[in-house]
Amino acid sequence: MILFPELEKRYTREVYSTREAQRQAEFIAFGPIVFEASRLMVKHGILDMLRDNAEGLTMEEITDRCSLTPYAVKCLMEAALTIGTVLVDPATDRFTLSKVGWFLLTDNAARVNLDFNHDVNYKGFFHLDESFQEGKPVGLKLFGDWATIYEGLSQLPPAAQKSWFGFDHFYSDHSFDDALKLVFSRKIRNLLDVGGNTGRWATQCVRYDPQVHVTILDLPAQIALMRRATADVPGSDRIEGIGMDMLDPQAQFPTDKPYDAIWMSQFLDCFSEKEIVSILSRAAAIMQPDTRLYIMELLWNRQKYEPAAFCITMTSLYFAAMANGNSKMYYSEDLERLIDQAGLQVDRIVDGIGQGHNILICSKK
Ligand SMILES: C[S@@+](CC[C@H](N)C(=O)[O-])C[C@H]1O[C@@H](n2cnc3c(N)ncnc32)[C@H](O)[C@@H]1O
Repeated sequence: MILFPELEKRYTREVYSTREAQRQAEFIAFGPIVFEASRLMVKHGILDMLRDNAEGLTMEEITDRCSLTPYAVKCLMEAALTIGTVLVDPATDRFTLSKVGWFLLTDNAARVNLDFNHDVNYKGFFHLDESFQEGKPVGLKLFGDWATIYEGLSQLPPAAQKSWFGFDHFYSDHSFDDALKLVFSRKIRNLLDVGGNTGRWATQCVRYDPQVHVTILDLPAQIALMRRATADVPGSDRIEGIGMDMLDPQAQFPTDKPYDAIWMSQFLDCFSEKEIVSILSRAAAIMQPDTRLYIMELLWNRQKYEPAAFCITMTSLYFAAMANGNSKMYYSEDLERLIDQAGLQVDRIVDGIGQGHNILICSKK
């Protein structure tokens, strides 16, 4: 197995003492409760007020400054102490924010993940086991009767929709600057953005290069959202949208013009291995020898920092229970094998893009 150094250090040997390991097991056993209690510490502004009061606050002072009862504050603060988001000074009974609490409160990735897990995943994950057994996202039933979450994206309840897009955009947005430099290091006249969603990448492309034309392929409902989102964007006359269900094996990639670059960002993780080979084979069918396919994914085993690998493998489970029941965040060699089966080759993998994206640059074999 290929593991980047920080992951190898952590995943190939014991990192906990016996006592720590026992505590970690309890942390898992109480996981949902740890999550809810910590989320409320954020929601009710308790972590915020502790950050703003470096000398600390007593439980009474916290109760005076929020809308919770003394009972609720006591329960939450004692739990937070043992979870590790706050510290206490036994001499004064004053609580302060710990490093963990600081990250939970201020690290953008942690906040995006917290909202995504609360608004999209939490209730549906009760059905993870059934989802694995049926090969369907059984948790998605809580939101609607769709085969995949993508069909229902435009109709999700507002909080779930906001957190879904927040999660999706957070990760890809941070990578666009590096990715633009890489893709536009070659002259690109026509770029095909497969799974282009609300057009954020396309918007960046037409701003970056005043001549490039971008065609977005996505499900019809997303193309409608994209048209609305890009209506007032400078260069939107160079963004085109084609509504298409890539799960339909008959859905062919457009041949209206020669595409210099095909871009798939956080797209292939929405499909099973078999579906990926089918989609990539159809992409290969329209590729010329000098067309480059750029696949931007978060490959869990090629992460520099271990917390990123953790977030990515947890996200695989979202695909199982909520998104489609059959896809995941891929291990690099699995994806390379599928690319090969589709008649393509990986020329280069660029790691460390943005928050941890990897870009596989592919061409026709
Ligand atoms: C995780 S989002 C990624 C969006 C964007 N490329 C980014 O990097 O932020 C996956 C995109 O693939 C699209 N998609 C999923 N299933 C699809 C299908 N069967 N046919 C076409 N597009 C699909 C979704 O609608 C969504 O826009």
